[in-house]
Amino acid sequence: MSAIEEIKQKLDIVEIAGRYTQLTKAGKNFKGVCPFHQEKHGSFFVFPDRQSWHCFGACSTGGDIFSLVMKKEGIEFAEALKMLAVRAGVTLPVRGRETLEKQQHARLYEANEAARDYYYNLFNTSREAEKARQYALSRGLNAQSLMDFKLGFSPSGRENLKKHLLEKGFSEKELLDAGLVIKTETGFIDRFHNRLMFPINNTAGRTTGFGGREMDGSQPKYLNSPESPVFDKSGILYGLDLAREEIRRRDQVVLVEGYMDVIIARQYGFTNTVAAMGTAISEKQIDAIKKLTRNLVLAMDADEAGEKAVLRGIEHENSLGSEIKVALMSPGLDPDAVIRQSAQDWSKAVNDAEPLVDFIISKAAAECDLSSAAGKSRLVDRILPVIAQMNNLVRQAHYLQKLSKMVNVNESRLEASLKEMKTRNQTGFQYAKPEVARTGRPLLSNQREEYCLALLIQHPQLRQKAVELETEYFSSTENALIFSLLSAGDDIETVKNKLDFATLEYMERLGTRPLIPGGLERKLEECVLLLKENYLRTLMQNQEAILSSAGLSATEKEALLEESMKIGDQLKSVFWQKSKNTERIKKENNASEK
Ligand code: UTP
Ligand code: MN
Repeated sequence: MSAIEEIKQKLDIVEIAGRYTQLTKAGKNFKGVCPFHQEKHGSFFVFPDRQSWHCFGACSTGGDIFSLVMKKEGIEFAEALKMLAVRAGVTLPVRGRETLEKQQHARLYEANEAARDYYYNLFNTSREAEKARQYALSRGLNAQSLMDFKLGFSPSGRENLKKHLLEKGFSEKELLDAGLVIKTETGFIDRFHNRLMFPINNTAGRTTGFGGREMDGSQPKYLNSPESPVFDKSGILYGLDLAREEIRRRDQVVLVEGYMDVIIARQYGFTNTVAAMGTAISEKQIDAIKKLTRNLVLAMDADEAGEKAVLRGIEHENSLGSEIKVALMSPGLDPDAVIRQSAQDWSKAVNDAEPLVDFIISKAAAECDLSSAAGKSRLVDRILPVIAQMNNLVRQAHYLQKLSKMVNVNESRLEASLKEMKTRNQTGFQYAKPEVARTGRPLLSNQREEYCLALLIQHPQLRQKAVELETEYFSSTENALIFSLLSAGDDIETVKNKLDFATLEYMERLGTRPLIPGGLERKLEECVLLLKENYLRTLMQNQEAILSSAGLSATEKEALLEESMKIGDQLKSVFWQKSKNTERIKKENNASEK
C-alpha cells in the first residue's frame, strides 16, 4: 500500500475538516461554513462515504483530504503528505531506503529468474529430465505451452542449483531470501528436488517464486516457494502476466484453481484464465483483476464450490462493483480435464455461468425442505444476511423478490426483517468512518483517468488542448496530484521531483503505457467529456443526498437548489457536446463509406 493510501485509510476527513470549521450533521454527511470563503450560511459539505469535501458556494470546488489541507494551509503536496503522515502515524518511506529496498528486490527477481532459466534449460536438455518431459507429454502440454510458461525441471542432487547460482555471483543469503535454498545443519541445500517446475510471475512478468510438482507420488503434490519480499502468495494470480491483455480485450477473467488448469486453458485458446493457486481469493487479487475487468467467472468443482463461494463473495462483488459468476464443473473434474475432453463443453460452462448469488441460493435451497415452515425459515435465515451485505439496492430488491417467491412469504415481510437486521447490526451506532470509502472508488472512471493522464504525459502538445479538464474531475489523490502538477506547466522531470515514491513509480508506468496511435486529440476530448460527466453526476448525487437530509435552513436549501440548476446546465452541455461528437463520427463514417 502506498503512503497516500495508508494515510487515507487511517485518517478521517470529517475529523480533519472539523478542525477548520465547525461541522454539523446533515443526513449521513456533514455541513459547515466554508473555511475558504466568507459566508453566513453553510455551503461547505463533507462526505464521509467518499471521504471528500465540496463547497457548493462561491468556491464551487472540492476534493479529498489532501487538497483540503493543501488549500487551507497553503502548502504543496509534499508538505501536506508529511503533515498528514505525522498525524496518521504513517512513516513515510525515505527515498534512500526505498532505493536500497528496490535493489534488494531486484536481486531476488534476478535470482529467481536465473533459477528459472536453469530449470528450463535442464528440462529441455538434461537426460535426467526425461521423466519430466514424458510427464508433461502425458498431461497433454504442447511445446508452445512449455515455452510460454517456461516449465522446468529441478534435479535430484542436493546442491545443483545453489552451485550454479553462486557461480553466477549470487550470495547464499540472497538465495535463502529468495526461497531457493533451505538451511540445514550442514549448510544450505536446494529447496526443490526432482520436480516439474512452474515459475510464478507477478503481473509485470518478473519471476517471484515457483511451484514444483512431484512426479512420483511424493508429498506434497506441489512444493511452493515460501513468501519472500517479492513473493506475496495472496496477492499473485498465476498466469496473469500472460493473460492481462486478453482479459482486458475480452473484458472477462476466468478464475481456476491450479497451475495446470491455466496452462491447458491457454493452450486451447482460453487465454483469459488465471489461478488463485489453491487458496480462497483475496482482496488483493480482486484489486488486480479490477484494473482489467469487472467480469469475473469462477470455475469451480461443484463439490467444493459452496463454502468457498459464499466466503467473502458479496464483499468481492461490492468491491468489483459487479456480479461474480460461477461456472460449475462435475465433481472431481478439473478444468484441465474438462478442456482436454471437450473445449466446447468448457466454453459452454463458462458462457452459462450463473450469478454467484443465485448459485448460493439454489445451493442453500437444496439443503432446506421448502415444504415445511422450518425449512423456509432456515433458508431465509441463511440468505437474508447475504442479501443484506449487498451494497447495490437494485440487486438487493431483485433477490428479496426471488427469495420471497421461493418461500412464499410477502416481500415486505422480508424487507422488514432485512431492515431489522441492518439496524440490529448498527445499534449503538456512533459516527464511525465508513469502510466503503476504500472500496467504493468508481473503477471505470479510474481507468479513464489513467488513460487521460497517459495521453497528457506521453504527448505534451495535448496539454494545451485539455483546457476544460479540471483537477476535481480526478477521483484518486494520485491522479489529481499528477494532473494539477502537469497543468501548472511543469515539465515531466519537475513534476516527478514533487511526487512521493509510489506516485512517481505509478506515473512512470503511465508514461510507458502503450497507447493506440491516431486521433489522440479527439480521444482526449472524449475522455475529458466523460470525466466531466462522471464528476458532475457524483456532484449531483451528493447534492441530492444533502437536500433530502434534515438540518438545512431555507436559505441554505435555496442556495443549494440554485447550485443544482447550474450543475444540471453543465451536465446538459456535456450531453450536447457528446451528441455532437457522435453525429460528427456518424457523418465521417458515412462519408468514408461513399
Ligand atoms: P490441484 O491439486 O487442483 O492442482 O490444486 P492442479 O494444478 O490441478 O494440478 P494437477 O492437475 O493435479 O497436476 C490447485 C492448486 O493448489 C495449489 C497449487 O497452486 C495448485 O495448482 N496446491 C495444491 C499447492 O500449492 N500445494 C499442493 O500440495 C496442492
Ligand atoms: Mn488438476
